[in-house]
Amino acid sequence: MHITVIAHRGASAYTPENTFAAFDRAIAMHATDIEFDVRTTKDGYPIVLHDDNVEWVTNSHGMIEDLRYEDIKDLDAGSWYGGAFKNERIPLLHETINKYADRCRMHIEVKSADTAVTAEVASLIHKGGAERSSVINTFWIDVARYVRRRQPNMSVALNLNELTPTSITDASSITLAGINLNYSLLTADLVKQAHMGKMKLMCWGGDSPRFWRKGFLTGADGVFADSPDKAIFYMEYLARESEKASSDALWKKK
Ligand code: G3P
Ligand code: CA
Repeated sequence: MHITVIAHRGASAYTPENTFAAFDRAIAMHATDIEFDVRTTKDGYPIVLHDDNVEWVTNSHGMIEDLRYEDIKDLDAGSWYGGAFKNERIPLLHETINKYADRCRMHIEVKSADTAVTAEVASLIHKGGAERSSVINTFWIDVARYVRRRQPNMSVALNLNELTPTSITDASSITLAGINLNYSLLTADLVKQAHMGKMKLMCWGGDSPRFWRKGFLTGADGVFADSPDKAIFYMEYLARESEKASSDALWKKK
């Protein structure tokens, strides 16, 4: 069974998250998929950044909604992680799409409940010719519904860190490509429900074999990992072990 490893914020265990260095490292580690977060500046530039402020990853301060792109474009987004990364900047979304669309699948998480923001992200994906190599991730089902209705060619996945009795069927009814589920909610039954609704199920919220193993054993399609190299290695190990166990069982029968 193949399970996809998605480099969460790039190879964020080894590099400053959500930077080109993080995405390049993930690809060098043979990750086929990367994940990153999108926010919008005061003057409407979609940028690649997790938090709603610049404090965590730069030596500056302020909320993104109060800052213009001009205010943040030269900020050092790498030194907080290590001196070797001092040239890293907060990437613009369209530059990121142009740089990586042909090199990996991009899981683009839009950190806004505003449908207009996600529509702009979808439009940049379209302009960059990256529909086939992108999936928009959102925590808001209304945003997911809006994008599916307006741009049916765009793949959308719903992030969930809590469940209602209809979460999976609601997602399936708007033909989402997938569900990204927090490990704390993950069960084999939910994976089956997602598959019956023609959706993939990916899991997030942990970066160690304990989590990846749960993803494998429940039949999930993918895991988000800060250490994509370790996750890939471990998933290959689990797949080999599982094949060996099946083969052993077969020989025992004879
Ligand atoms: O897509 C799942 C995951 O990325 C959501 O959590 O905080 O890392 O953006 P966070
Ligand atoms: Ca994210």
